[in-house]
Amino acid sequence: MDRIHIVGGAKLHGVIPISGAKNAALPLMIASLLTGETLELANVPRLADITALLRILGNHGVDHMVVGKRPGQTTETGQTIRLTASNVIDTTAPYDLVSTMRASFWVIAPLLARFGEARVSMPGGCAIGTRPVDLLLMAMEQLGATIEIDGGYVVARTKNGLRGGEIHFPKVTVGGTHVALMAAVLANGTTVIENAAREPEVVDLAACLTKMGARIQGAGTPRIVVEGVSRLNGTRHEVLPDRIETGTYAMAVAMTGGDVTLENTRADLLHSALDILATTGTEVTPTADGIRVRRNGAGVAAVDVTTDPFPGFPTDLQAQFMALMTRARGQSHIRETIFENRFMHVQELARLGARIRLEGDLAVVEGVDRLKGAPVMATDLRASVSLVIAGLAAEGETIINRVYHLDRGFEALEAKLGRCGAEIRRERA
Ligand code: EPZ
Repeated sequence: MDRIHIVGGAKLHGVIPISGAKNAALPLMIASLLTGETLELANVPRLADITALLRILGNHGVDHMVVGKRPGQTTETGQTIRLTASNVIDTTAPYDLVSTMRASFWVIAPLLARFGEARVSMPGGCAIGTRPVDLLLMAMEQLGATIEIDGGYVVARTKNGLRGGEIHFPKVTVGGTHVALMAAVLANGTTVIENAAREPEVVDLAACLTKMGARIQGAGTPRIVVEGVSRLNGTRHEVLPDRIETGTYAMAVAMTGGDVTLENTRADLLHSALDILATTGTEVTPTADGIRVRRNGAGVAAVDVTTDPFPGFPTDLQAQFMALMTRARGQSHIRETIFENRFMHVQELARLGARIRLEGDLAVVEGVDRLKGAPVMATDLRASVSLVIAGLAAEGETIINRVYHLDRGFEALEAKLGRCGAEIRRERA
């Protein structure tokens, strides 16, 4: 298995181009199942999760074509993928494909809406909690689907098509909102989704569906109203920038010090996360097409954080923020309210010398003067990248094992950091 070696201590200086958002690209690709016409997606990141989803869609009969390089493009410019679901031959998503990535479970909604049935294996994904799908199933039942569990598979059916209905989520769920949207756009009548997720990736999916002919109002608010249509058409859509990748590199700069411009991204996608970063003593300035992040000389101030659904502080940046707080002056409290088991990075950060105490959903971090490099390993994507950030600021060498987690969600990580002065290299197995 590949490993990443980092020798810490260098300040970061330069420009980092931000990729398209993995968590927007995945539901957008799945939305291709809603039409027989071609959906062209631009700015799709080159990531293992994208490749895995292409295999899953291919298994249903979706054709895909990756558009070749065009003038002015580099290998890091997002790719353009054309997806055509004109010949879906299989509405089953098997265990061996779905178990590697939780988001692939979402194919259940467009398959059900367009073909009246879907048989999808119960999902897998990062080990960050129990992650049930009860709310996703409830959403489809509210639109008239019958749901059965059969041999580890969820079987969803509808006899005469889905019909509009009321979906009230007792808890904000991003996946639940994606599923509700994709089911409702082809339902007969009006659907109201209450307590909907407001994440930018939901807004991006709704924008693409609208270009495909869907009638959606209120995306980005807790109440989304969808008026079903009988068919959708193809379109072209550009995936929005990855706010988690943006926030991750911003925290890397906050941790090492330096001056980096993150380009092809948007400050508004990060909301409170950037405000919190600013209170740690990092200068954060929006630019014409991105964000400039600077920290010089002065240390990092300790700040408390609680994760929350958007526009709150994202759970997907919690591990990275904790890495930053390990070097802060004083004590900080980090509360995780979205996933019950998302502290896997704590014991690994401790190997680097971090002092963190866990009390249920709360991590109490005592800032230390220095971290020291060590071999570490992580069990999920964001936890892995928090170790990269810590390694960049640690003395000596840090070796990150299980790099395949990083490859699921961070495009060209070593190249992007290396160009800004980080001493980082991949050892291929
Ligand atoms: C999405 O996961 C993201 N994944 C996650 O990013 C992200 O951490 C999460 O949203 C929260 O922002 C993708 O977009 C591909 P949820 P999702 O449904 O949709 C509970 C990453 O690192 N819940 O919003 O699966 C659930 O257990 C990944 O890129 C139920 O109880 O998350 C959790 O506590 C990791 N029943 C909460 O809701 C359900 O049926 C929010 O989960 C569904 C969810």
